[in-house]
Amino acid sequence: MHEDSNVRKPAILFLCLGNICRSPLAEGAARAAFAAAGIEAALDSAGTGDWHVGHPPDRRAMAEARRRGVDISDLRARQLRPSDFVDFDLILAADDTNLHDARALRPAGATAELRLMLDLVPGRAGESVADPYYGDDGGFAATWDDVSAVAAALVAASG
Ligand code: 4NP
Repeated sequence: MHEDSNVRKPAILFLCLGNICRSPLAEGAARAAFAAAGIEAALDSAGTGDWHVGHPPDRRAMAEARRRGVDISDLRARQLRPSDFVDFDLILAADDTNLHDARALRPAGATAELRLMLDLVPGRAGESVADPYYGDDGGFAATWDDVSAVAAALVAASG
């Protein structure tokens, strides 16, 4: 079997509300998991809202990622845009509100599949990744656990 260079690497966008907590953690966990597996993927994250555009991740998210050995400090928030629906194969929303808002922006001719992040994790379909923004630091540990399960499922499906 020869390697088919026409097979595009998977392009996956992680989506939440502000793009400073859940989706940058998901992007960081996925970057680490794909790199560890030696699988190339185009990974990015975005928010449905525009309040934090250009900002680095929340300091609590950066600290949690660092505790798990992943540096997400170079990520900058951006807002979901219609072209994302053709540029990515898969858009993974953190919660039902993100999913609903993304559906409203989905343009005619969109090719990306739109799902909840935890739909990929056995036994957790339909669940949301809880928003840790207004909680204490412990919420970010739970977020990391959720998004690393998503990252592991993505790698397992891509291998
Ligand atoms: P995220 O968390 O959607 O996981 O990035 C939030 C970040 C900011 C806000 C809400 C949630 N905010 O209201 O500014």
